[in-house]
Amino acid sequence: MNEHVTSTRINDEAQTPSPISMGDGKHDSAPELMRGARAAPERKKSLHIKTYGCQMNVYDSERMADILRPLGYEMSDRPEGADLVLLNTCHIREKASEKVYSEIGRLKEMREEKEARGEGRMTIAIAGCVAQAEGKEIMNRAPAVDLVIGPQAYHQLPELIARTHRSKGERLAADFAPEAKFDALTAEREVTGPTAFLTVQEGCDKFCTFCVVPYTRGAEWSRPVASILDEARALAAKGVREVTLLGQNVNAYNGVDAGAQSTLAKLMYALAEIDGIDRLRYTTSHPNDMGDDLIEAHRDLPELMPYLHLPVQSGSDKILRAMNRKHGRSAYIELIARIKAARPDIALSGDFIVGFPGETDKDFEDTLDLVRQVGHASAFSFKYSPRPGTPAASMPNQVEAHVADERLQTLNGLLIEQQQAFKEGLVGRTLPILFEKKGRFGDQAIGRSPYLQSVYVEDAVSLMGQIVPVKITASGNNSLQGALLAPVEI
Ligand code: 5AD
Ligand code: SF4
Repeated sequence: MNEHVTSTRINDEAQTPSPISMGDGKHDSAPELMRGARAAPERKKSLHIKTYGCQMNVYDSERMADILRPLGYEMSDRPEGADLVLLNTCHIREKASEKVYSEIGRLKEMREEKEARGEGRMTIAIAGCVAQAEGKEIMNRAPAVDLVIGPQAYHQLPELIARTHRSKGERLAADFAPEAKFDALTAEREVTGPTAFLTVQEGCDKFCTFCVVPYTRGAEWSRPVASILDEARALAAKGVREVTLLGQNVNAYNGVDAGAQSTLAKLMYALAEIDGIDRLRYTTSHPNDMGDDLIEAHRDLPELMPYLHLPVQSGSDKILRAMNRKHGRSAYIELIARIKAARPDIALSGDFIVGFPGETDKDFEDTLDLVRQVGHASAFSFKYSPRPGTPAASMPNQVEAHVADERLQTLNGLLIEQQQAFKEGLVGRTLPILFEKKGRFGDQAIGRSPYLQSVYVEDAVSLMGQIVPVKITASGNNSLQGALLAPVEI
């Protein structure tokens, strides 16, 4: 999962609460008569969400915005002056929690300024994996925080926010059952374009020795098929064409379907049946959960995009063992060969960690060699960061920072080289591009290739939400350029 920080935005439509819009998703079609009868709207309040980390957090932030919207919360791009600020935190690498504490310090000052202006109080809430891992500590160390809420409890946000308004300092124990969360997240989803994330699985039972996810997100749990299909149909009805299924271990998906256990492949076939859903992706997967039926789905299902994020972390058998990845180098290479046989044009992506305890120059060379052999079209590389409480943090032979830095640079160089070569290989080809948003200049539009690159196309702004053949004309640093095969008739 690539890491980034985003602010989630909801636009201004349909935020006024009405008796029939509270979570039943029907307010757009409310007859005038009922609109006339609705309760006096509450004052509009502003909400700022800052999202750290992976796509799962982006999805969770969007859902939190969705469930707060009927309460009158309007999205704000900036924390200054907001009535509610939510930090959706990530714990996976580095001193993420320290970043959160310094952000809380800044928010405290903003709160004081807001109060001095007579604009009322700013509520500060901490969500996400730092909240889960360090909830008690946050409440002790940062008295400015009103609410700490773990990833399984987001459906309780409206109630908890109301309670913190009545009595400052409410804290939530974060270990709810995930099904309670998904059952309760019934608020209508805001859709901002033709692509959307959809969480189908949470948690991880793999316990890689470097990783906090099994501790912060808990055991593997899969949503039932019916609830996923309902959410996907609702997205399709709002114009979504491409859905990315999310899970910490998404290909271990085994949700129930009419009493029996399903698989990610079966779920893909069912989703592909939905009118309007033309593209499917999934992330993040573990090599050991790459079932035969999923590989066959890559062969047989045109909706399943030819792009696979399949982290391997290292190319050295010794390091893979120390990481408790539960597979060796050759098993990964054989798996990739089977996937490529099923879908020859597939673009492979992955995550790599350099500087894991005990990693020698030879181990690192094995990683470079694996990258060359597999020919990753893109990948994310990270310097090992000891996470408190994980087995690797207390392993001997921690690698010196300058050695890990050098390795990171070398690996990045190779990955960028391969990424450029893959993109350059697309120049001259015609690819189906899904247009997602306006570009910066004139009628330029930005679309997405099957291989996940952004594609900039002139005079295409009227094609938003459509999948159109585009000839790739050039390859840039992080994107492609293309041209329509024929001018658009307006
Ligand atoms: N140090 C560095 N990278 C890590 N990742 C997870 N935990 C750590 C850590 N302690 C990376 C892995 C994973 C990605 C989401 O983050 O590569 O696949
Ligand atoms: Fe973390 Fe390993 Fe689980 Fe991925 S598979 S979430 S790296 S423990």
